[in-house]
Amino acid sequence: MMVQDLRGSEGPLLVVSNRLPFVFQRGDTGLTRRPSPGGLVTALDPVLRKRGGTWLGWPGGDIGIEDALELRGDQYRVAPVILSESEITRYYHGFSNRTLWPLFHSLPARTGFDERDWEAYQRVNLRFANAALEELDAANWVWIHDYQLMLVPEFVRREMSGGRLGFFLHVPFPCYDIYRALPWQSELLRGLLACDLVGFQVESYMRNFMECAERILGARVDREYGVIEYAGHRTRVGSFPIGIDREYFETRAEASPPARSPRRERILFGADRLDYTKGIPERIRAVERLLDLHPEYREKVVLLQIAVPSRSQVAEYRALKREIDELVGRVNGRFATPSWSPIRYIYQSLSHDRLARFYRDADVALVTPLRDGMNLVAKEFVACQVGDPGVLVLSTLAGAAESMEEALLVNPHDVQGTADAIHRALCMPRDERAERMNSLRARERSNDVHAWVNGFLARLG
Ligand code: UDP
Ligand code: G6P
Repeated sequence: MMVQDLRGSEGPLLVVSNRLPFVFQRGDTGLTRRPSPGGLVTALDPVLRKRGGTWLGWPGGDIGIEDALELRGDQYRVAPVILSESEITRYYHGFSNRTLWPLFHSLPARTGFDERDWEAYQRVNLRFANAALEELDAANWVWIHDYQLMLVPEFVRREMSGGRLGFFLHVPFPCYDIYRALPWQSELLRGLLACDLVGFQVESYMRNFMECAERILGARVDREYGVIEYAGHRTRVGSFPIGIDREYFETRAEASPPARSPRRERILFGADRLDYTKGIPERIRAVERLLDLHPEYREKVVLLQIAVPSRSQVAEYRALKREIDELVGRVNGRFATPSWSPIRYIYQSLSHDRLARFYRDADVALVTPLRDGMNLVAKEFVACQVGDPGVLVLSTLAGAAESMEEALLVNPHDVQGTADAIHRALCMPRDERAERMNSLRARERSNDVHAWVNGFLARLG
């Protein structure tokens, strides 16, 4: 058993999440690793780099137990939990991404329920819990992350005496009326209520959780102090809006080679995992509307859309890929000229270096999810605005909209409203752009990812 001194909020951490920072794949040249997709990893990696500790998670793909020995973290330890093919199918693609992901994003029509997926979820969560217990002694702190691992706290708590147990949910927690459709609603709530502290991105998710605990489990909820009492145990709840490693992105934006000038086109920029929560088709339709209503933008404006391949074994994601391919083809077909196409669509993941440059040089960032726990792309864009200030067009349905009030806020379902906001962004005078961007940057500067960790761990203590 590996015993480390992880005590106290200043010490190294034991972080548990479904993803490790890298996905390992076996190829012709042996084992290769690439960065994992998504905001959870972007947020946690700098935290562990700074504080040290251990990150426990699934190394992705088809890696076998013998390969785990080859895994190395950088400034911190990496402890792998290996999943079998059927566990990946049922626990990861199934219960995590076909049941919890759409339900928690308030999309019940996309949600599927399958008892076999639920059984695998329980088994895998137990395995993660046992692996976590292997990593600590009785007084240690464990910080568990996200919807894939909601039963882990309860399993860990059974075997753990002393120490601290925290959980952070990176995605929204839905309202009672949506959540209660889940056949295993009590089990998941009980899983989280084994924690000392459960954190949410914004207050409304926390309030939804308190209401569910009260109405489904009959727990005692103290809304004023954010405490839930259930089965003789007290759990604190709080909202801890996540930030980014601002310095890391800003430095990259500053170091990138300057953009070619004069530029031919003005850039509308989007970067998302290819996920139905991100509102990519709605965004493309808004750009189409803009070009319909304002022919003056033809040959002058381009939507540069990065779509990172994601969860392509789930049918909904494959269908979305087809939908976007068709839509891009249709809109480009309608407006393209021999020297210009309105949409440049890149179906791959970019490095942070390249992304920082795109963020810096974009005139307008389109962050228009239909629902999003927070959305780090919005914050990264702002951090990278080190030159002529651009404009952030942000969905009111992203957690980020709760604090980024100087963005142009839009309802992503409202095609006309979004097209109008893009038009306004493109016409905005420099003074107004600078004023809005300065306020956005100042707020993110004081609320970066390290402030987020410190806030959470201080409360946990
Ligand atoms: N990202 C990336 N390469 C890309 C596009 C996105 O590394 O080509 C990263 C981006 O920097 C961000 C994350 O993916 O940190 C997306 O996080 P977000 O919170 O916006 O959404 P999520 O994917 O977690 O739902
Ligand atoms: C979101 C989730 C994370 C997840 C990420 C990427 O950010 O909150 O838990 O890791 O998407 O998704 P994936 O299924 O590839 O891990």
